[in-house]
Amino acid sequence: MTTGTALTTADLRVLAEAGGLAPSLHNSQPWRFRPTPDLLGLEVHADLNRAVPAADPDGRALHISLGAAVFNLRVAAAHLGREAVVQLLPNGAEAQPRAVLDLSAPARSAQPFGADLYPAIAGRHSSRHPFTNRDVPEAIVADLITAARDEGVTLTVLEEHGVRRVLDLTAEAEARIAADVTREAETRRWLRLEPSFDGIPLAALGEHDRDARVPMRGFTGHPPRHTTPAERFEALPQLATLTTHSDGQAEWLRTGQAMERVWLLATVHGLRASVLHQAVEIPDTRWRLRDTAEGPANVQLVLRLGYGPPGAASPRRRVEDVLDQVYG
Ligand SMILES: Cc1cc2nc3c(=O)[nH]c(=O)nc-3n(C[C@H](O)[C@H](O)[C@H](O)COP(=O)(O)O)c2cc1C
Repeated sequence: MTTGTALTTADLRVLAEAGGLAPSLHNSQPWRFRPTPDLLGLEVHADLNRAVPAADPDGRALHISLGAAVFNLRVAAAHLGREAVVQLLPNGAEAQPRAVLDLSAPARSAQPFGADLYPAIAGRHSSRHPFTNRDVPEAIVADLITAARDEGVTLTVLEEHGVRRVLDLTAEAEARIAADVTREAETRRWLRLEPSFDGIPLAALGEHDRDARVPMRGFTGHPPRHTTPAERFEALPQLATLTTHSDGQAEWLRTGQAMERVWLLATVHGLRASVLHQAVEIPDTRWRLRDTAEGPANVQLVLRLGYGPPGAASPRRRVEDVLDQVYG
């Protein structure tokens, strides 16, 4: 990175704001963005103080969250008229950036890839509300499959038997997670850091309600008391898995980029989405999620898609807290 136009402070703010709006496990936002010394690129670092070790001991969800931030940075770069060349895990080592974006080149076209997704970055929210029973049209499903495939990840929209299997495994995992005091305490800690959840001030909720609203962990067809009654949820949720052939940090970063690309595109199409992560968090339920007849073996994420009310914006860290100082 030696030639090109240096990123201005305003550019860096646009980038960091977009990166910071990515979805993350428990809204942990485990990222830091550091301009390269020549100001022609941006490094994405993991903020390990914001890891979620009980739920995510291997850092799989952390890397998916970082990957989602990387995709938002690519879109924001296109919005700024720059070409983003991404290198994942440039040095492989733990303390190194998980990704580096070379932003030195101007975009090659007037409509660079991703620029049209930029407004969806701020418009995308997890929607944990009941959806209608309207099917996602095949043409949109095909677009979402292509979007994931372009990131090296397989998106599979599940048939009824697959949906029922995933919901059963999610219910089983949820019960096991609820019985694990370490994980419960960890989830509560993250929830306390959020001043509100889905627009509802936590202080206004009773303790039980507060638990029941933990990132829709109750959405399994058997929601706990005080959540929206099961019959108000769609009769058969439309679920999709994101799967990869291998399983390691690079695939997790790719999955995060695919998830965000699919989610932003879905948002542009007027779809809502949320994540059902419970079954992926426990090794044996994750193993049983595999359906090798449908796609690659490693299930990285389960997405619920459909039409319904938008979710509310969740709080985010300030740009100053995620963007490292520019020196020189
Ligand atoms: C790896 C990962 C796992 C997640 N797991 C869940 C989950 O199990 N249930 C849920 O409702 N949301 C889940 N989410 C969504 C986050 O809670 C959500 O992105 C975060 O609270 C920020 O809100 P937003 O998506 O509306 O911006 C997950 C997100 C990621 C990236």
